[in-house]
Amino acid sequence: MGIDVWLPRDEQDPEVHEESGSAGGMGWEALRDCVTHCTRCELAQSRTNTVFGVGNPDADWMIVGEAPGAEEDRRGEPFVGRAGKLLDEMLRAIGQSRDGVFIANILKCRPPNNRDPKASEAASCRQYLDRQIELVQPKIILAVGRIAAQNLLGCDDPVGRMRGRQYELNGIPLVVTYHPAYLLRSPSQKSKSWSDLCLATRLAAEYVA
Ligand code: URA
Repeated sequence: MGIDVWLPRDEQDPEVHEESGSAGGMGWEALRDCVTHCTRCELAQSRTNTVFGVGNPDADWMIVGEAPGAEEDRRGEPFVGRAGKLLDEMLRAIGQSRDGVFIANILKCRPPNNRDPKASEAASCRQYLDRQIELVQPKIILAVGRIAAQNLLGCDDPVGRMRGRQYELNGIPLVVTYHPAYLLRSPSQKSKSWSDLCLATRLAAEYVA
């Protein structure tokens, strides 16, 4: 009858966004649905589960890791293996918790044999993480490990050079620290991570949107 039906942005068809290559404007439900059914890269064929991310959708802290490992792929939740346990302890040390922050990864699907994400995979997946950051609007982003830091900041510096500094992503303060899996192998570096967490805590407290 020539009457347009306007849907709230949340309820728009995920497929439309998939074709345009952007998750911009999607609400949580549509975004989760899009990730669950994503076939934008070859990892869709080998994954058991997509790993969307967990935590508080209104979190002050957003933690970004690399990609799901075997255990995360099996359970559909990020950071549930040994490295995840250490991440939980790191969060506890700064008065945060897995439920209070939002945890996501550069990739939503596991790369086979835990190989590094390919640039094309990270690019295909980036729209989902960008939209998660827009929705959460955290006061601080903590990039854990080289892959997260390099992808978020678009550089190829080593973590040792990036940690301990203040960066920004779309106006949100961002701090880089070592990946908990690396800290399990090199516990002597934990004190540096602790000072990164203290820096991030200070920046979050100072942040004004
Ligand atoms: N390592 C990551 O970077 N992310 C996970 O979810 C698990 C391990």
